[in-house]
Amino acid sequence: MSNSVTAQHISVLGLGAMGAALAQALLAGGHQLTVWNRTPSRAEALVSQGAQVAATSAEALAVADLVILCLLDDASVREHLEPAAAALRGRTVINLTTATPEQARSLGRWAAEHEVALMDGGIMAVPSMIGGPAAFVLYSGAAAEFERFHGVLELFGRAEFVGEDFGAAAMYDLAILGGMYSMFAGFQQGAKMVRTTGGTAAHLATLMAPFLQAMTTMFAQYAPGIDDPESYVPEQDADFTAGAIGTIDKAAVESGTATELFGVLLRTLPGI
Ligand SMILES: NC(=O)c1ccc[n+]([C@@H]2O[C@H](COP(=O)([O-])OP(=O)(O)OC[C@H]3O[C@@H](n4cnc5c(N)ncnc54)[C@H](OP(=O)(O)O)[C@@H]3O)[C@@H](O)[C@H]2O)c1
Repeated sequence: MSNSVTAQHISVLGLGAMGAALAQALLAGGHQLTVWNRTPSRAEALVSQGAQVAATSAEALAVADLVILCLLDDASVREHLEPAAAALRGRTVINLTTATPEQARSLGRWAAEHEVALMDGGIMAVPSMIGGPAAFVLYSGAAAEFERFHGVLELFGRAEFVGEDFGAAAMYDLAILGGMYSMFAGFQQGAKMVRTTGGTAAHLATLMAPFLQAMTTMFAQYAPGIDDPESYVPEQDADFTAGAIGTIDKAAVESGTATELFGVLLRTLPGI
């Protein structure tokens, strides 16, 4: 983006698997970096690559234009941010620690009260993917800060702003993960079923993966049915969908691997 600027000085708090990967990406991007971790030894590798280490979280929060947190949970973020409210006034904070949307909104209210520019983020990657082509990170909150630090954020992976509601990034993040876990549950159930025929989960994986990948193109087609249900004509009506799921459920019962999964789908999936 044309109006992005490079941060003068960035601090990363939290050097677990993910925080360390973020810090590496910032060093590789040529930024001046201060790091802090509760267990100081985890900073050693980064220090040998040019990062400065802060003795306390308060010191790390006070030296940077841009502060990035990647701690365990909301409680650990609060534990370190709240006592530093005065030092953070006028600075930009990006919280990449996983939170619920309400936790993110509550932190957003705290930030507004203390004149801290806050963005919440959801990382859609594992640490080894950071900086690579498949990684993307969702951001919500202070839109102006997203524009301002866009060049920095792109170092982690594609940066996607999803709204000014502080809870939006967490909601998109958790929605995507919900889809992922639903898919894994379907695979696990399917594997139990095919094993009763002498098949294997490994063979099913080779067949189910490309099929499901192709089916994801249906999301865009199905989305108007949720965004604008009044004017949507389903490709499959609810009875057809229910019939298909009922047959799958019968197969699960016949194979002795019945679970709650298909009952849940029957109750939640309308026509698509
Ligand atoms: N790993 C992933 O694939 C992934 C993907 C997306 C999002 N995330 C999110 O990224 C965040 C960090 O994940 P991670 O994989 O890096 O976890 P991790 O390896 O377990 O690291 C947790 C980090 O939090 C610190 N911490 C925990 N409690 C703390 C406290 N009370 N005060 C200060 N620091 C504290 C730990 O410090 P110590 O070293 O002192 O224990 C460590 O730096 C989580 O919110 C996670 O959900 C991770």
